[in-house]
Amino acid sequence: MDDLREKYLARIAEAADEAALEELRLAAVGKKGEVSLQMRELGKMSAEERQVAGPKLNALKDEINAALAAKKAALEEAALDARLQTEWLDVTLPARDRPRGTIHPVSQVTEEVTAILADMGFAVAEGPQIESDWYNFDALNIPDHHPARTEMDTFYMARADGDNRPPHVLRTHTSPVQIRSMMENGAPIRIICPGRVYRADYDQTHTPMFHQVEGLAIDKDISMANLKWVLEEFFSAFFGTAVKTRFRASHFPFTEPSAEVDIQCSFEGGQVKVGEGDGWLEVLGSGMVHPKVLQAGGIDPAEWQGFAFGMGIDRMAMLKYGIPDLRAFFDSDLRWLRHYGFSALQVPTLHGGL
Ligand code: DAH
Repeated sequence: MDDLREKYLARIAEAADEAALEELRLAAVGKKGEVSLQMRELGKMSAEERQVAGPKLNALKDEINAALAAKKAALEEAALDARLQTEWLDVTLPARDRPRGTIHPVSQVTEEVTAILADMGFAVAEGPQIESDWYNFDALNIPDHHPARTEMDTFYMARADGDNRPPHVLRTHTSPVQIRSMMENGAPIRIICPGRVYRADYDQTHTPMFHQVEGLAIDKDISMANLKWVLEEFFSAFFGTAVKTRFRASHFPFTEPSAEVDIQCSFEGGQVKVGEGDGWLEVLGSGMVHPKVLQAGGIDPAEWQGFAFGMGIDRMAMLKYGIPDLRAFFDSDLRWLRHYGFSALQVPTLHGGL
């Protein structure tokens, strides 16, 4: 009995985990455990022997059970301690920074413009920002040496030494997408093309990269009247108030006749307010697509006609959201972005209001 006692108490003390402990329990006091087997021997003993051995065996059994229970509790406590160690958390630490972006006003306004014009049946078209001089100029009736080429402060791409083909350009306007969609889809057409354009220019209202949206509608009997209606509807929806427009005769190589469009605004107190007052602000160029442009796009000008317009998106954003300096749009100043940016959840829709 002393041997059993020493053996099991020592092993219990050393048990590494609850599984080992359970094994020891079975080996000692389980049905076929060593202590239990000894208890079965009691029946074979004389009454005197049994009186001595019985209580001793019972005491041994109790002692082992108590050791098992104590060890079990100790193991559980150690496991909890270990877990608390790994799951330790300093609740006094400041919260971790969570980067939170905003939607840039240019993106927001692009979505607004697209939502309004898509509702009128215009599909969105796109073209490359690196454009051949044919698409950017020639096809739009701006031949070589035409003053418009220099007026646009074009960025030219480099050509390899000895390559004498005309260089590609960073598109100076979204108008080349007119040609691309004519060639791709033929007439009739109703598209807009929002996108980046480039000119070597830099001041409070000019940056070397800016954004335009081009509009093009071609069908059998489209007229300036349709153009005027579309633009007036557009401006009123965009600014959320009735906006008067003024069409001024102008000249673009790719339209005939051409018109520059002003919107009504007041300049009181150094603040521009669209849709009130009797001042005017020029916001876009437009006109009836020139027959030569239709031809360049593979469309027969004897059969089809249409209007086109080109508008500055950044300009629209400045006017609508009261942003004074265009250059700040592209400085990536986080304070500016947080102030003028939009929530990603504020998706512009006509039904939700713009
Ligand atoms: N492409 C012209 C520019 O960037 C804007 C423009 C004027 C576009 C008249 C047109 C248009 O489609 O008809 O200055």
